[in-house]
Amino acid sequence: MIELTINGKMHRLDADPDMPLLWAIRDIAGLTGTKYGCGVAQCGACTVHVDGVATRACVLPLEAVAGSTITTIEGLGGDHPVQKAWIEQQVPQCGYCQSGQIMSAAALLAETPKPSDAEIDAAMDGNLCRCGTYPRIKTAIKRAAGIA
Ligand code: FES
Ligand code: FES
Repeated sequence: MIELTINGKMHRLDADPDMPLLWAIRDIAGLTGTKYGCGVAQCGACTVHVDGVATRACVLPLEAVAGSTITTIEGLGGDHPVQKAWIEQQVPQCGYCQSGQIMSAAALLAETPKPSDAEIDAAMDGNLCRCGTYPRIKTAIKRAAGIA
């Protein structure tokens, strides 16, 4: 049995300790906002916060997060400044990568409220978007940070 907190709710999961966190989030907790892209920590679609740190859930075994606090896109609540900026800038195209993008951006701004261009680029570097929404993502991050 592995205990962890997801979006403020304690979960006791009777699951294989090797199961990637992503599948526990999606298939056991039923939170499907976090997406599967590559499965090998290369695209960022599965990004969640583990104890506040943007983390790839597709390669992280459950046993590594026992006792941790997880936040998924659902846990941001919809009123988060990053989500508001995303809507204002009409960032998504197909949308598939966007929950991961938003989670990376939210973690960046929690740690660095007024990031430089270089800090934004570094934080978002691992989040791929096949639709090429990168310019809007960057603008939205700056809007959320109050620097654009
Ligand atoms: S699905 Fe996890 S990084 Fe691509
Ligand atoms: S919006 Fe389509 S992959 Fe990013």
